[in-house]
Amino acid sequence: PLVSMTEMLNKGKDEGYAVGQFNLNNLEYVQAILQAAEEEQSPVIIGVSEGAAKYCGGFKVTVAIVKSLMEAYNTTVPVAIHLDHGSSFEKCAEAIHAGFTSVMIDGSHFPLEENIALTKKVVELAHIHGVSVEAELGRIGGQEDDIIVDDAEAAYAIPSECDQLVRETGVDCFAPALGSVHGPYKGEPNLGFDRMEEVQQLTGLPLVLHGGTGIPTKDIQRAISLGTAKINVNTESQIAQAKVVREVLNEKPDLYDPRKYLGPGRDKIKETVMGKMREFGSSQKA
Ligand code: G3H
Ligand code: ZN
Repeated sequence: PLVSMTEMLNKGKDEGYAVGQFNLNNLEYVQAILQAAEEEQSPVIIGVSEGAAKYCGGFKVTVAIVKSLMEAYNTTVPVAIHLDHGSSFEKCAEAIHAGFTSVMIDGSHFPLEENIALTKKVVELAHIHGVSVEAELGRIGGQEDDIIVDDAEAAYAIPSECDQLVRETGVDCFAPALGSVHGPYKGEPNLGFDRMEEVQQLTGLPLVLHGGTGIPTKDIQRAISLGTAKINVNTESQIAQAKVVREVLNEKPDLYDPRKYLGPGRDKIKETVMGKMREFGSSQKA
C-alpha cells in the first residue's frame, strides 16, 4: 500500500534499521525499486526530485506511474512516494495535491527563522492530508538537480537549532546535514557522529542521511545506531545502470531496441537497491 513515511520510519528507529529512499529517474527505476522491495519484503521510499518529476511529465504522471505499477505488481509492502528536496511551499502543495504521501521541504539555504516558518507552513498543510514531512538544517555538499553546494558552503547542522526547528514545526523526520555529500565522495566521508547523537537525543525523531552513495558500511551501521532511520540513495543506482548500458551498447554496436539496453540497466538498479535494503537492515521488515 501507498503510505506516508511516519510509521515505517518510527518502526525502523525503534527496531534499529533504516528504510532506503531510492530516487526514481524514469519508468525503469519505479519498476526496479518496486520489484526489489517486494522481493526483499522491505518497506521503501520512492524519492522524486522536482527535476525527476518534470522529466517524467509532472507530479501527477509520476504518482500515476507508481500507483499503476503497484497495482500491476500486487505490491504488498509499504511504499511512500516522497518529494525530495522540495524547494517551496507551492511545490510541496502541488505534490501533496497530486497524491504524494510524503514531502521534504528543503529550507536549509534560508536563515533559521525563515526555514522554520516555511517548514511549519508545509507541515500544517501536509498533516491535514496525512502526508509526512522531512526538513533539513545545515548544508549537504555536492550537486543534485539544480542545487549546487560547494565545499566552502557545505556546513554541519547545529544541534540546538535542529532541536528548535523540530519543536517549532512538528516535522515527522529530520535531516541534519553532517558532512554527507550528494554524488560520489572525494575520499572517505567524514560524518559528524557526535552531533548526530546529540541531535537524536534532543529531537527523538527518526533522522535522515542524505548522500547515501559511497558511505562505508561501518558508517551506515553507526548512523543507524544513532537514530538514522532513512538513508537516501540515487547516484549509486545511476552509476550501476549507466555502466551496464554502456557495456551492452559497446558489445553490440548494432543494437537499437531500448528494451535490450534499458532492460539490463533496470536489472542492475534492482540488484543495487536490493543490496542496500540488506545493508540498511530493512529486508524482511515489511
Ligand atoms: O536526496 C537524495 C540523496 O541524498 C541522494 O544522494 O545521489 O549521493 O546517493 P546520492
Ligand atoms: Zn539529498
